[in-house]
Amino acid sequence: MLKINEAVNFIKSLYGGKPDVGIVLGSGLGSFTNEIEIEKEIPYGDIPHFPVSTVEGHSGKLIFGKLRGKKVVAMAGRFHLYEGYSSEQTVFPIRVLKFLGIDTLLISNAAGGVNPSFKVGDLMIIKDHISQLAPNPLIGKNDKSLGPRFPDMSEPYKKHLIKKVKDIAAEKNINVREGVYVAVTGPTFETHAEYRMILALGGDAVGMSTVQEVITAVHMGLPVFAMSVITDVGIRDDDNVITHEEVLQAAKEAEPNFKALFCELIAQL
Ligand code: HPA
Repeated sequence: MLKINEAVNFIKSLYGGKPDVGIVLGSGLGSFTNEIEIEKEIPYGDIPHFPVSTVEGHSGKLIFGKLRGKKVVAMAGRFHLYEGYSSEQTVFPIRVLKFLGIDTLLISNAAGGVNPSFKVGDLMIIKDHISQLAPNPLIGKNDKSLGPRFPDMSEPYKKHLIKKVKDIAAEKNINVREGVYVAVTGPTFETHAEYRMILALGGDAVGMSTVQEVITAVHMGLPVFAMSVITDVGIRDDDNVITHEEVLQAAKEAEPNFKALFCELIAQL
C-alpha cells in the first residue's frame, strides 16, 4: 500500500483531475490515444515504483485526458511476466489507477485465435478466462486494504458492460466474437500441440497479458471489460509461423473497429 500511495501522490502532484475510466492498450493498439484530448502525459520512468516497458509497440506512459466527455487515463504500454517482472510488478499500475479513482477498467490485448472459426482481425469480447497456465498475481500475503484473501471470480468480466458493447457493435454493424481467453506467460508463441491443448481446455484465444490485471481489478472490486484483437490464428497449416511484426500489423488493421467500440462504450458509461 505504501508504494501505491507514493505513486498515486506523485501523479496527483502533476495532475489534479480524477479519472473515471482506466484503459490498458494492448500491442499495436497505441494509436487509440489519438482519440483522447490529452491533458497530461507522465512517462512510467518518472513514477515511483512503476516498472518500465521494454516491448516494441508499447510506449510506456500514462495519458490523462478527456474522451467523449469522460475523464480517462490510458496506459500506453503494459507489463508482462515474460519481461522478467514479478506478477506483483506487472499489476502495480492497475492498483495505482484504482487509487487514482477510476470506476471502470477497460482492457485490450492482441491474442492468438484458437477457436477454429476465428480469423485474423476479429475482435473478441472476453467473457471469461483461464488463468491457470500463468502465476496468480495475488499469491503472497494478502493486503486487506486492497481486497479479500479469496476473491470471488464468478463474473470477472461484467455482464452489463459486455451487453453494452454487443449492442453498440450491432448498431454500428461491427462483427464481434465472444470467448474465453487463456493466459500463458510467453514469450514463445504456442506449439501446435499447445494450441490443441488450449482448445481442448475450452479456450477461444490465447495471450500473454490481461488475466493478471483482471484478477487484480476484481480483487479490488473494480469492474472490468476486456477485448482481444485476434492477430494470428494458432490452428492452421503446418507452416504456421507467427512473428511479432505480424501481430502488430494485424492489430493496426483491426484498430478502427476497436476504437469505435471502446469510444462508444466510454461515452455510455
Ligand atoms: N499466442 C500467445 N500470445 C499472443 C499470440 C499467440 O498466438 N498472438 C498475440 N499474442
